[in-house]
Amino acid sequence: MAYPFARNRCSKADGTLIMSQATARAHSNIALIKYWGKRAGPRNLPAVGSISVTLGALYTDTTVVFDDTLSADCAQLDDKPADTARLTPFLDLVRARAGIDTRASIVSANNFPTGAGLASSASGFAALSLAATRAAGLELDARELSILSRQGSGSAARSIFGGFAEMHRGTRDDGSDAFAEPMLEPEDWPVEIVVAITDTATKSVNSSIGMSHLDERSDYYQAWVDHSESDLAAMRDAIAARDFETVGALTEMSCLKLHGLMMSTRPGLIYWNPATVAAMHAVRSLREAGTPVYFTIDAGPQVKALCAPGHGEAVARELADVPGVLETRRTALGPAARVIA
Ligand code: DP6
Repeated sequence: MAYPFARNRCSKADGTLIMSQATARAHSNIALIKYWGKRAGPRNLPAVGSISVTLGALYTDTTVVFDDTLSADCAQLDDKPADTARLTPFLDLVRARAGIDTRASIVSANNFPTGAGLASSASGFAALSLAATRAAGLELDARELSILSRQGSGSAARSIFGGFAEMHRGTRDDGSDAFAEPMLEPEDWPVEIVVAITDTATKSVNSSIGMSHLDERSDYYQAWVDHSESDLAAMRDAIAARDFETVGALTEMSCLKLHGLMMSTRPGLIYWNPATVAAMHAVRSLREAGTPVYFTIDAGPQVKALCAPGHGEAVARELADVPGVLETRRTALGPAARVIA
């Protein structure tokens, strides 16, 4: 594969290029039972477990090149220079593990709007983990990759896997038991997701900031943490039984609890716009009329509709007509992260 960016984009010393590179694809995911809040300690130790589905149609492709002639890490996201403040400490983890000191170039592209609540940090850090470790000559197993991805972004731990995945909260301070595991492969239960995009702008408060110091900032936080285990247990049972109505009801409940928590945070976080609310009502109207569909929403204004197998097309048609919905994307469940070059 060719060197994937113009050489003059990165500061280089003169001399022969000594490089090793890899490209990985990881899919975005949406949580049915949400992660929000961190345990004390470094690098995204989650306060609660979570359960998600991986989305086939939304993904990030990332190429990492370790290059001896680079004097600093550099990065491009969607053809624009990107800040390396969050990337260099992450690459340092990979470098420490591989026993190298080489700087890297990262070239990454999302096939969906970045930073607008479509889980770009999840697919982004999962793809980066896989590409960077391979380029550094490491072969981590899926659990190790999940732990590494979590250290970039908590939700990224789940994007290592396809289908349905569960992220464990873990209890250890070193995070060695805070990883995701696969629950079902996409073909085991081919539910569909319709994403209704209501705004393509980057969200105002990113998740890490939104969920920081919640114990001091929200009176509802302890209740959120206290009920998490029972929500997770109910969801595990419903997924195992392929009980779509219960999975859907738990999904909507976790979403609304999360947004209640967000709104209760000082200062209050409101990620919804009028079209978000209209799409939520449209999902409920569809359901009342007999279509098996439930909504969920992350830290942004987009609505994701969880549809029973075979119902995605009809739901996408309806949501496209909701005032303020700019675009819909319909997707099946997606596969695990993988090296593509
Ligand atoms: C609302 O994984 O983006 O999407 O760990 O700080 O990077 P950091 O946060 P992030 O938070 C995701 C929050 C969520 C719910 C979820 O995906 O479980």
